[in-house]
Amino acid sequence: MKKVLRFWWTVPVVVTLVVSLFRRLLPAVKRQEKGAISANDEPEYAGENNALYTSDDVKNFYNQYTGKFVQVYGKVIQAFRTTDITKLLDYQIESIGLKPAQTVLDAGCGVGGPAIYFAQKTGVQISALTISDVQAVQMQEAVKQAGLTHSIRVQTGDYHHLDRIYPPESFDTIFFLESFGHAHHPRQVLNSAWNVLKPGGTLYIKDLFRKIAPSDVLQKKIDSEITKINAAYRYNISDLYQILHQVRQIGFVVMHLKTVDIPLHDFENLTISNDFQELTGVGKIDNWAEYVFPVEFFELKCYKPLHSLDRGLDRYFLQNLFHIQVNNRNPHEL
Ligand SMILES: C[S@@+](CC[C@H](N)C(=O)[O-])C[C@H]1O[C@@H](n2cnc3c(N)ncnc32)[C@H](O)[C@@H]1O
Repeated sequence: MKKVLRFWWTVPVVVTLVVSLFRRLLPAVKRQEKGAISANDEPEYAGENNALYTSDDVKNFYNQYTGKFVQVYGKVIQAFRTTDITKLLDYQIESIGLKPAQTVLDAGCGVGGPAIYFAQKTGVQISALTISDVQAVQMQEAVKQAGLTHSIRVQTGDYHHLDRIYPPESFDTIFFLESFGHAHHPRQVLNSAWNVLKPGGTLYIKDLFRKIAPSDVLQKKIDSEITKINAAYRYNISDLYQILHQVRQIGFVVMHLKTVDIPLHDFENLTISNDFQELTGVGKIDNWAEYVFPVEFFELKCYKPLHSLDRGLDRYFLQNLFHIQVNNRNPHEL
């Protein structure tokens, strides 16, 4: 009894902490109740929508240069890669979490190197989408040659409108392999991905993001290089914080954000990108002495919470708590 009395003062402290936690959560809950977090919201993140290159620009670019890309890169058009490309693709199977019989979307599929490998190795069913009709034709032929017409379906279309192309909640996984950064309106892409993902489904993005420098002088150099890359490749290199903000605001749960984690000696040292620049003149670097490498490559993996007690509870405590608050459910259901 004496011991209990000695700790009586902890009771108000714990109560205060719990009350303040709920006060913090409440405004977000109210906002969502009012529908403030919706697919059609105007962007709220500074620096958004300054994209210069439209989907048509990207389409024309790939229609013009796909032949040259394939000549230099082969059938996997990713700059940040391993010398033995199967090592990158095996790594991506693990990192994305591809499992047999899953229904997946390859958003920005190129000429199909990754999709064909993934289908052969894991037995996933793939819908593949590219903005370029030249790529779609080449990929269709490659799929036929590989005898995979039963497991890969190729289409031409714009990933800003996934929800016009595919039925709602149709995919277990959607992945973007060095394709997301072409988006002129990333929030729209993420919203449409949300709509066509099944609850519990996974979104995976591997891409280049603007490097953040330790000084203003360096940052200016970086930003000027970024402008050049964007112009050369019709890219709209993303700001990592903006994308993180957007996925979380839409309701995705971030599972991991990491650098591409492959042994150093397996990496291709970007000579392929240089070869492409030499061959085409696209993105050629004029002054190596002044050059600062302006981007970092990250993998961002998120999932869409289940948010439905009939389908089963979510695997993370805080998602369940939020769902219960937003939908006025009974905490005993947690
Ligand atoms: C650098 S390539 C990567 C190709 C492929 N992911 C790979 O790993 O080989 C970029 C791809 O994104 C696609 N893409 C860019 N913007 C797109 C859009 N708005 N809708 C659909 N695909 C798009 C391009 O058509 C191209 O196939």
